[in-house]
Amino acid sequence: MILGLISLSLYLSSAYGLSFEIPATPPSNASKTLAEAPVGVSFEFFAYPAYFTDVASTETCLENLKDLTGVWPPMRIGGTTQDRATYDASLTEPVSYTVASATDAPETLTFGPSFMEMAADYSGSVTLGLNRRLDNIANTISAAEEAVSVMGNLYAIELGNEPEFYVDTDPIADGETWTAADDYASQVLWQEEVCGNLSSTDIISAGVYFGTSPETIQGLTAVEGDANVYVKDYCSHNYPQSASTADLETLMGHSDITTEIEPFAAEVAAAVAMGKEHVFGETNSATGGGGGISPTFGAGLWILDYVMQSLLMGTKALYFHQGTIGDCQYCWWGRYDMGSPYFGAYFATMALAGADQIAELDDQTTSFAAYAIYKDNTPTKALLYNSEYYASGTRTYQVFTLSGLSGSTVTAKRLTAAYATSRVDEGESPTVAGQKFENGTCTLTGEATVETVTVSSGSAQFSVGASEALLVYL
Ligand SMILES: *[C@@H]1O[C@H](CO)[C@@H](O)[C@H](O)[C@H]1NC(C)=O
Ligand SMILES: *[C@@H]1O[C@H](CO)[C@@H](O)[C@H](O)[C@H]1NC(C)=O
Ligand SMILES: *[C@@H]1O[C@H](CO)[C@@H](O)[C@H](O)[C@H]1NC(C)=O
Repeated sequence: MILGLISLSLYLSSAYGLSFEIPATPPSNASKTLAEAPVGVSFEFFAYPAYFTDVASTETCLENLKDLTGVWPPMRIGGTTQDRATYDASLTEPVSYTVASATDAPETLTFGPSFMEMAADYSGSVTLGLNRRLDNIANTISAAEEAVSVMGNLYAIELGNEPEFYVDTDPIADGETWTAADDYASQVLWQEEVCGNLSSTDIISAGVYFGTSPETIQGLTAVEGDANVYVKDYCSHNYPQSASTADLETLMGHSDITTEIEPFAAEVAAAVAMGKEHVFGETNSATGGGGGISPTFGAGLWILDYVMQSLLMGTKALYFHQGTIGDCQYCWWGRYDMGSPYFGAYFATMALAGADQIAELDDQTTSFAAYAIYKDNTPTKALLYNSEYYASGTRTYQVFTLSGLSGSTVTAKRLTAAYATSRVDEGESPTVAGQKFENGTCTLTGEATVETVTVSSGSAQFSVGASEALLVYL
């Protein structure tokens, strides 16, 4: 009987109770010093001007993030169509192309000086993706010169996008199979010639590789040599899933995220060894429309935990891709509806606002994550995430006990939705502290709900439902 009770209580504490002590100062496995705004956006090159001229939500959705951190989210302009674009100094519009259907991406396009003038008007930093695939280095240098001259906010320039997908018929490949070695040599040569003409250093976002094979930052940095001086950062792209693999439970699972990003650790290390930052310069949940998982609340929860884990791995910033307007499953907002993933990005930005370090308190082997968030070596917030997949039936709740707290109460804000599968366009908007973002404008609406939790003897208990997260203000 007694043994039975002991094993029952052990069972209860492991299955129903999770306890974490908040370290009073950042522990040894805390992140390095964070950027002010690690959560950024990437706009597909051809669609970028229309996001600002034709989509009313764009400015407000970005401003909402700025209002949390005090800094406009970093922006990257690029993608597949950067490698289809030719600069035309006489073009008056920002971009010019024709497509058969409004939701097609153009096979070829031109862009003019006003493209860069528009980017210069953004109040945050901008990484601009330019063309290498078409092998017209003089044209890319002209565009880069214009960018440098008008964009006071220019952070970096990319020379080509996802070059592992270049094929022998691409002009840069000159009829040959494009190998990793070809790409490394080409990147270094272009860095030297572009930066030689610009008389600039520390300006290239290098690599721009999709995943970690066959081309890698490790391979590129091995041959960078003195050209490393031209590099601002080394860049990876990451899409954990595709339409054919689409599995939301895996996408948002805490330990699954750990497993998914693990191969990038060596890429980060290679960048750091060169004295440079690593970024996820383009990322989102799933390629090819995402098989239905991309517009869901679970994809927003993925963003939240993926951002935290990537920052702990040493990445500086993540730029979440916004693609073709009207045909973009993972987009954070559109002309008409909000996207559920935006709520996760907003919550991640809330958690990181004003922070200079984060530390993970769990060991990444379960569905439950706990992070301590620091400012000036003092814990200011804790982020709790229950990544259990909830799509039907009765929601389960996980109790997290946090100790090492001071004061008699703490407050908390909750990120939730009806289900992990909830989509705004299907009438199930997530909420952040009880509030929503209006369709078509991205205005934060509704009354904020802040929960108050009693602290006793330095500890407090928090209940977090399956497919929910809670941000505790210490
Ligand atoms: C400028 O770019 C051209 C290629 O268009 C290259 O041949 C030349 O070496 C570059 N100049 C410098 C100073 O790097
Ligand atoms: C970080 O260290 C703490 C101890 O301070 C440990 O409990 C936790 O599991 C570690 N987390 C990771 C992700 O290594
Ligand atoms: C947004 O529009 C969808 C229909 O497309 C609707 O079901 C949903 O309730 C709207 N969300 C808000 C917050 O108004």
